[in-house]
Amino acid sequence: KRPFQVAIDGPAASGKSTTAKMVAQRLGFDYIDTGAFYRCVTLAALSKGINPSDPSNTGKIASIAGEAQISLETVFPERTTSSASASPPTTRVYLDSIDVSSEIRTAQVSKHVSATAAIGAVREAVLHKVRSIGANDDFAEGAATARDGLVMDGRDIGTVVLPNADLKIFLVANSQVRAERRLQELIKNGADPASGVLQVEDVRKDLEQRDELDRTRKVSPLKKAPDAVELDTSGLTIEGQVDIIVSTVKGLQ
Ligand code: C5P
Repeated sequence: KRPFQVAIDGPAASGKSTTAKMVAQRLGFDYIDTGAFYRCVTLAALSKGINPSDPSNTGKIASIAGEAQISLETVFPERTTSSASASPPTTRVYLDSIDVSSEIRTAQVSKHVSATAAIGAVREAVLHKVRSIGANDDFAEGAATARDGLVMDGRDIGTVVLPNADLKIFLVANSQVRAERRLQELIKNGADPASGVLQVEDVRKDLEQRDELDRTRKVSPLKKAPDAVELDTSGLTIEGQVDIIVSTVKGLQ
């Protein structure tokens, strides 16, 4: 029997990665953040002075995606079966063996990542990498995962990456709530709210712009899979949404 697969998709800052990590922690599953792959390719391009948003650079970005060595490592500090607050899991992201966990979250990378992710050859390269780390749809023998299941988050997990996932969740939240959550996250990661650059309105515009690009691109756009369960988290806490998903998984296992 192949490990249980949970696919979590949704727009920017809908809480996918925090939720996915905590669900993985509660269930003892692996976690794969697919957005990190697109962010790494974007970072690699920018650090070579190549602008992903310039359409004439498509070929260059595609070869960068093919060559980049990307790996993820999620540390689950305290496996727990209760919702009592254990410290949340953290994911380290490595690009060509260098820890780029913070660099891939900068505003500069966020601004260009949707352009990178709209390139078909980049998506193929990322799909290949994600599958080679054990996320085969059928979990072929020898897949890297040693756990009972896998939680993967992104934009096309339920539609393209894991079309036969056992549970597909499409997380949504209104853009004001998402902007406020993202702002808190940026502040927690060291951004200075007093600098005047960081306004909730600007954060909201950035998110909406990225969602628009992700929804309207030709290849694997952000879209709810027909068999996905939509979960509106606007009025939910992280713990609340994690509880809902964990109990749904338990009901299906
Ligand atoms: O999830 P995160 O915000 O880190 O994703 C960054 C970007 O990567 C998204 O805005 C989207 O353009 C792209 N992405 C994607 N498909 C995925 C995951 C992320 O196109 N499965």
